[in-house]
Amino acid sequence: MNALELLAHSPVMPVIVVHDIDSAIELAQALVAGGICSLEITLRSDAALSAISLISQAVPGALVGAGTLRNARQLDAAIEAGARFGVSPGLTPELAQAARQSGIPFLPGAATASEAMAAADQGFIAQKLFPAEAVGGVALLKSLYGPLPDIVFCPTGGIHADNAAQYLALPNVRCVGGSWLTPNTVVAAKQWSTITALARQACTLGISALARSDK
Ligand code: 3PG
Repeated sequence: MNALELLAHSPVMPVIVVHDIDSAIELAQALVAGGICSLEITLRSDAALSAISLISQAVPGALVGAGTLRNARQLDAAIEAGARFGVSPGLTPELAQAARQSGIPFLPGAATASEAMAAADQGFIAQKLFPAEAVGGVALLKSLYGPLPDIVFCPTGGIHADNAAQYLALPNVRCVGGSWLTPNTVVAAKQWSTITALARQACTLGISALARSDK
């Protein structure tokens, strides 16, 4: 699997912060039940690596990756835990080298044309536009498509059910990322059917966006 194939898995990549390791499996099962299989577990909590490991082993159908990767050490630890892809809010030379050597699909973060070009030069043609809404959102992506039509994005940051379809209709967007599928209060209350419903709705967004676009 390469990064482009990863982005083709689901129209929405849930950006997940696991606070309670005891809920990690049920959370992942709820998303997979709703049709969302690529799960970005961010390294923003103490439970993150354990969650990657647990979900990888216990949830068939889940494709578990690590997010918020900032350096090679974190990438190594995530792969050791079972991560099958990596995502970062940015890119450093060290992380680029480690990601290339790891062989797993890796989405570096980019927020400008220069960052996108630098990441593409490092071999990363699929990137995370971050923070998408804050840096220009749909208008920025339309502008980038002219000079950089070969670079594809997973915009993340400020995206939710109401604006995701606008992004998914763009020719240089394959999927969007966001935390809206796993609201903290819903996860804390273990309302798994709500998570499954949000995941189902997210899959529908992808279908309706495809129908409207000419990609
Ligand atoms: C990320 O890490 O990609 C973002 O924090 C997710 O942004 P969101 O919470 O606005 O979806």
